[in-house]
Amino acid sequence: MSSNPNNQTTLDQPVERRSFIKWATIGWAAFIGVVGGYASILIRYLFPNVLFEPKQSFRAGKPDEYVIGEVSERFKDLHGVWIVRETDKIYALATVCTHLGCTPTWMPGEAKFKCPCHGSGFYKNGINFEGPAPRPLERYLIGFNDSGEIVIDKTKKFQYEKGEWDDPQSFIAA
Ligand code: FES
Repeated sequence: MSSNPNNQTTLDQPVERRSFIKWATIGWAAFIGVVGGYASILIRYLFPNVLFEPKQSFRAGKPDEYVIGEVSERFKDLHGVWIVRETDKIYALATVCTHLGCTPTWMPGEAKFKCPCHGSGFYKNGINFEGPAPRPLERYLIGFNDSGEIVIDKTKKFQYEKGEWDDPQSFIAA
């Protein structure tokens, strides 16, 4: 206890101690908040949100796994590719409509790809013949690896209207 100039008794010391504890608590809380904030930023930096896309290049088995005259939908969902085998060659068509990018449906009974969005139609070889699609489907680079497996590389496309389907990298002889 102490006295003030008016000779009154006060409780200065306990009040000061309480005040100190209060401010110390606030200080620690602020410190922990700042450190926690930096820690969460650091964790976000170390573990960013990353979208894992399927690989752009993939193996697609041996040629004899594909039936002559048929369209294989084996890699449609995972890689967005139809593999078409004709009597003398195999090629990989992109499953992307050249109108506005929808995914056409392969209709074996009519031997065509039909886009559900605006009705574009494409022959089995990818050439457009009906609807608003302005050009054929695109083909991807296709070749063999050392084990004789088909490898498709989606980083390289071939467009019919540019004469690129004659490029030997746009098909394999089979
Ligand atoms: S996106 Fe295929 S017809 Fe429009």
